[in-house]
Amino acid sequence: MTENFAAFAYLISSVLFIMALRGLSSPETARSGNIFGIVGMVIAVATTLATPGVVSYWMILLGILIGGAIGTFIAWKIEMTSLPELVAAFHSLVGLAAVCVAAAAFFEPAAYGIGTPGNIGVASLIEMSIGTAIGAITFTGSIIAFAKLQGVMSGAPIVFPGQHALNALLGLLMIALVVWFCDAQTGTLFWAIAILAFIIGVLIIIPIGGADMPVVISMLNSYSGWAACGIGFTLSNMALIVTGALVGSSGAILSYIMCKGMNRSFFNVILGGFGGETAGPSEDLGDRTVRSGSAEDAAFILKNAGSVIIVPGYGMAVAQAQHALREMADLLKKEGIRVRYAIHPVAGRMPGHMNVLLAEANVPYDEVEELEEINRDFASTDVSFVIGANDVTNPAAKTDPQSAIYGMPVLNVEEAGTVLFVKRSLGSGYAGIDNPLFYRDNTMMLFADAKAMCEDIVKALE
Ligand code: TAP
Repeated sequence: MTENFAAFAYLISSVLFIMALRGLSSPETARSGNIFGIVGMVIAVATTLATPGVVSYWMILLGILIGGAIGTFIAWKIEMTSLPELVAAFHSLVGLAAVCVAAAAFFEPAAYGIGTPGNIGVASLIEMSIGTAIGAITFTGSIIAFAKLQGVMSGAPIVFPGQHALNALLGLLMIALVVWFCDAQTGTLFWAIAILAFIIGVLIIIPIGGADMPVVISMLNSYSGWAACGIGFTLSNMALIVTGALVGSSGAILSYIMCKGMNRSFFNVILGGFGGETAGPSEDLGDRTVRSGSAEDAAFILKNAGSVIIVPGYGMAVAQAQHALREMADLLKKEGIRVRYAIHPVAGRMPGHMNVLLAEANVPYDEVEELEEINRDFASTDVSFVIGANDVTNPAAKTDPQSAIYGMPVLNVEEAGTVLFVKRSLGSGYAGIDNPLFYRDNTMMLFADAKAMCEDIVKALE
């Protein structure tokens, strides 16, 4: 394959990746976005395999078979609620791959056309040292993120005196090592950069609370993209540069969107200390009387409503209640009741979490509305049906400046005639704070697993 043709094929795959990202920005177009991504990747891989210089096809095939089999097996087995840890585990491999490619390029520069040992151009040395550093930080950082989410290690922030000063010092040491490496070009310095970056990866992630991991994972996703981008420069591979930059920037944008949805600054997340311990009630909760009801009570209230807004949250994902919920909504619609779903930007534990689950249960897209579109309608709605959501409805975000979630936009569920809350207890959610809505006069708690409760309501409605 000629160089020009390869460049053209890479250009096509890059355009397809951009179209994939665009498609993935909305549930209606997500499937076609996925297809664009797959086609783009097939073109990129086929082009790379067809370029001269491939030494061993069977080794590549073996790698694809082993990696593909492991990936398929994991994707098959993984629970929806464990996706963040899966993503963390996969990012660690991207980081490690960047370190391995940089090592190969440094020790065998002739094979990559970047010079001979001891005589590599400064630009290539800078690219490979940055790729190694970011890749190694991504590797160990993602492993710590995985271990915290999986419960292998405690999710509590690990802090010690002088932590930030130590991190800053190691950062400066890293810059000095990279400068020295570009001058001396020794293998010892290459490995020194990699080892120091492995240590920095651990140190920057341990102080972050397990609950903040989704933002951290999206940030590590961004790092892994930039590491791949750096390696793309080393290999002079245009597709890798563009794809790396796309992953790097989309990960950074996603982290920003998540922080904005929680009304927290990026530094506030990175410096840790949120969602670790359970705080007390955040406002005067009066006599704290709780009104609880059964599935039959809920069915009665729902059947007599003219309009219902369903607010799904993390508990719906845990219970996998989306199918039973849709069945319940179908029965209500048959009775002529208007049913809509309100999606908070950070409901669940990852961006688009609720949209994916509702789409899986074939909930029509036009019934699903974002916070800004629907928030004003609660006041003219008969019933808010809150299923496994908690923080995203907590009015403390609007009224209590001392609250950890103060300033986060929340769904105004309490403005509806009646609020039905499906959850197992009065326990708190991700932010670890009490929700005053549980004790309001127009609230009825439905204490149960979300799926079991929906199934019981369906039976009662029938
Ligand atoms: P949460 O506030 O975490 O509340 C979820 C509730 O679900 C819990 O209070 C729990 O109460 C209930 N639950 C758990 N398992 C259940 C089950 N099997 N059946 C019924 N209920 C169950 O969830 P949310 O309202 O979706 O808010 C999301 C939170 O995550 C926000 O604070 C947000 O900032 C944070 N966060 C989100 C993201 C993204 S991108 N989505 C990223 C990072 C952080 P019980 O134990 O009493 O049942």
